[in-house]
Formats: sequence, structure tokens, C-alpha cells
Amino acid sequence: MKQLLEEILNDCSHYTKEGTLAHYIPELAKANPNEFGIYVISKERTDFAGDYEKTFTIQSIVKPLILLLALEDSGIALVNKCCGVEATGKPFDAFNYSDRALQSDYINPMINAGAITLCTLVHGETYEEKFSRLLAFARKLSRNSSIKVDEQVYLSEKVTGNKNRALAYMLKAYGIIDGNIEEILDMYFKACSIRLSCIELANMAFVLANHGFSFLENKFIISKEHARYVNVIMATCGMYDGSGEFALKVGIPAKSGVGGGIMAVAPHRMGIGIYSPSLDPKGNSIAGIKALEMLNQKVELSIF
Ligand code: DON
Repeated sequence: MKQLLEEILNDCSHYTKEGTLAHYIPELAKANPNEFGIYVISKERTDFAGDYEKTFTIQSIVKPLILLLALEDSGIALVNKCCGVEATGKPFDAFNYSDRALQSDYINPMINAGAITLCTLVHGETYEEKFSRLLAFARKLSRNSSIKVDEQVYLSEKVTGNKNRALAYMLKAYGIIDGNIEEILDMYFKACSIRLSCIELANMAFVLANHGFSFLENKFIISKEHARYVNVIMATCGMYDGSGEFALKVGIPAKSGVGGGIMAVAPHRMGIGIYSPSLDPKGNSIAGIKALEMLNQKVELSIF
């Protein structure tokens, strides 16, 4: 497997020259576009290649974690009431909702509007406490108790995140969320700015691949029903308006982030973390998707 991963990175490395870094968050434009790494965990072994230890910010890959924690804290019924499950077919930050179209049914947990909404369903007295609980949850699932917020990226998002600000105020205006918008956004920006590597992504993915069961702890660390919910939403919406094509070419639940990471879940088999920061126009890592496509061709990952 290690040799296969090396071959895949080698064959896909020219794709790291295509696409662009996420310039709309100035700090992310400082990434090194040549970095490319992969880490794969299965029950029997771990395999890796390239820059698997390089760190980057989680960005939208935190969305499945926000969804999971909202499910664990508030339950499926409330999560469902506040945030729909249908693919939007729109970019992750779209706010072209027509006057009557911004209803909770028309957003999903993988787009910015849905993730901002679900921050409000995480338990905690304050948004600082809600964020601390989210970070603790990310540390537990990723098996790394020292991952933390990249302050520079967080501040960069906070200063430039006016599209998210507009979205959040719109959600409030339409009665989908309530509370102090700047505090809710602060939690969302910090969540997106958690810095980690392919190793942590693969660890989180492996828990989801086993429907919440941790082999290390020999018990379920998240509910099987909630893990299934998250896997379903990642399979249908995880790559935004590129989710259908990704399902055809790779066929497993996955979530991308504009930091260049992809967390991919091969149910009952593997947790996969990939990193390459150059993005396609939809905000997904170009080389990362190509590497997953090739891995699927070699070891048949597709669940379809
Ligand atoms: O809110 C944003 O725009 C970013 N913090 C996260 C977006 C993102 O990662 C989209 N993913 N591919």
C-alpha cells in the first residue's frame, strides 16, 4: 500500500501546478502549492506518502464535526428542523437566495450557511464554551490532544469574512438562527482555523468509516446513527457542487476544505487524509481529488 500511495502521488503531482490557492482568505494564499501528502488508516495498518505531516487549516472539513457534535448534543430532530439535508448545487458560500427561498430546508450542513446554523446547536453557555467543546471533540476524534487554532488564519478570516457575515445576518433575519451573530461567527471562524495534518484527518475519517466505533478504545465514541447521518451528508454534499462528479469518480463520503485538505471515508475499510492546497474553481483540492480517483481505480473504494 505504501508503494501504491507513493506511485499515486508521483503520478498526480503535476496536478498540484493547476488551480489556485484560496486567495479570498489572505493567510491561505501563503501555502506552498507543491505540498502533497496522503495518510491511510485501516484496521490492520497505516500507510502514508509525501507531505503527510505538513499542517494546514481544517477549513470546511470541520463541518462534519460541527454536524456530529450538534447531533450528539441536540439530536436528529432539532438538527433536521434547523438545517436540511438536500444538496444545493451551489457554491459553498452562495447567498443568492431569492426572497422566499431562505428556509432551513434549503440549506445543508456542508455549506457555510448550514455550518453557521449548526454552531448554534452545539451545547455550551457561551460561544467560547461551545468552541472549546468542539475543539475537544476534534482532538478526541483525531487522536491528537494538541491540535489548536491557527491565530493568523483565524484573524484573516475574521477580517475578510464579510460574505459569511452577510449569510449569518440573513439566517438571523429569516429566523433560522438566533443570538449574537459576531459570537456565532467567531466560533465558526475559529473552527475553520484549526490546524492539523493528514494524520488527524485520517483518524477522524477512520472513526466515521467504522460508524463511530473506535478500535483503540474498543467502544463506540459517537453514536452509530449520527455517524451514518454524517457519512450520508458527506456523500451527497461534501464536495459542494462537485459532489455528483466526485460520487461518480470516487464514490465514497468525503469532505474538502479550502486549506487543501480532503477527509475521505471508505466505510468499514479505511480513513483517508489528503493534502494539496491548490484548488479547483469549486474550492476542492485538485490533486487531492485526482489521487482519490486513482486510489479508487486501484483498490475499488466506491460504495456504489
Ligand atoms: O468560511 C469559509 O469560506 C472558509 N472558512 C471555509 C470554506 C471552505 O473550506 C470551503 N471548502 N472547500
